[in-house]
Amino acid sequence: MTTLFTNIKELIQIRDAGITKVSGSEMAVLPTIQNAFLVIENDLIVDFGSMVDLPEINPDNIVDVSGKMILPTWCDSHTHLVYAGNRIQEFVDRINGLSYEQIAQRGGGILNSANKLNQTSEDDLYEQSKERLEEIMHLGTAAVEIKSGYGLTIEGELKMLRVIQRLKKACPIAIKATFLGAHAIPALYKNNREEYIDLIINEMLPTIAKEKLADFIDVFCETGYFTVSETEQIMQAGISFGLQPKIHVNQFTAIGGIQAGVNNNALSVDHLEVLTPADIAALVKSETMPVALPSCSYYLSIPYTPAREIINAGLALALASDYNPGSTPSGNMNFVVATACIKMKMTPEEAINAVTINGAYAMNLSNTHGSITIGKKANFIVTKPIASYAQLPYSFGSNLIENVFIEGKIIS
Ligand code: NIG
Ligand code: FE
Repeated sequence: MTTLFTNIKELIQIRDAGITKVSGSEMAVLPTIQNAFLVIENDLIVDFGSMVDLPEINPDNIVDVSGKMILPTWCDSHTHLVYAGNRIQEFVDRINGLSYEQIAQRGGGILNSANKLNQTSEDDLYEQSKERLEEIMHLGTAAVEIKSGYGLTIEGELKMLRVIQRLKKACPIAIKATFLGAHAIPALYKNNREEYIDLIINEMLPTIAKEKLADFIDVFCETGYFTVSETEQIMQAGISFGLQPKIHVNQFTAIGGIQAGVNNNALSVDHLEVLTPADIAALVKSETMPVALPSCSYYLSIPYTPAREIINAGLALALASDYNPGSTPSGNMNFVVATACIKMKMTPEEAINAVTINGAYAMNLSNTHGSITIGKKANFIVTKPIASYAQLPYSFGSNLIENVFIEGKIIS
């Protein structure tokens, strides 16, 4: 089936095939065509251009989108959207003065979510997670990475990864699974952390690899969680099972996790709220994508990742949601774009590049996602009538999405 979209006010993020990411000053450039057409055939983009060059074709459908813009769907390269229940009580506790760290130290935080998850059946977890996935699809996301890490037991971690596998099969959105057994040391291993790390490496990983349940390996490399040398040990074990690292680093403290990630060919290093000149220097010589999570900074009132420093150093930057129950209970990538512009001083062009082409890179999805490119998936957002694409972050609380197409089909 062929569908032709006509009179597109502006067709945004058009790229030739083979461009996998944009870095430094290239991030300020967002290629577009005004008054454009777009042709899709089944699940793929097959042609686009200026209306004056519209070829003679016989499509099955013609959709006139006068006044509206079309841009690629969001690529959210960092989420924990498979979780059980919520942490609303911790939210209220923080309002009343406790810090995120204090809540974690008294056994809340990640361990609270792990308790809840281990008491929830796989089917129930699947239903709760599917609802969140459907919500983000309506908000314009059509590729997402989802982590385990709220099990912290063999059964719990496998349950999470099996739920992710079921979501992959049931939903049109592209999903990548990341094994994050090293999210926190469970209470049971508080005085015996080597034993938990041994469990991750020698019991969880082999089973996960055998059942092909994960694409990537993650570690929360942070003071009070996993040290740099533990992170290296776990990344290397993951690599030996074919899982490329994508790691949590520099959220609260800079302890050398970025250098470790780069040395182990990490696909991405995520958070980076605290960044040293040595961290930036390590990234400059690498193919590792820095990923910022502005909704997490917003929700926890912690510093924003210094996007300008990163981009001015010539680096690429991706933005993701971090959707999770404790530090970012939102998977809204429209809010991510707006917050990046408003709080991190990224231009609309930089922010849109960061959540499309660079987000796809951070999930190894560059060949199929992240831009309007012939041969890529017909995944795109049709906006409501808007004045310019800068209105997307400008009208930050409004939903400016009229329709979302995933693999050529409208999400209703
Ligand atoms: O990316 N920083 C580590 N993990 C998550 C939050 C986990 C939680 O609080 O449940 C994050 O922010
Ligand atoms: Fe995270």
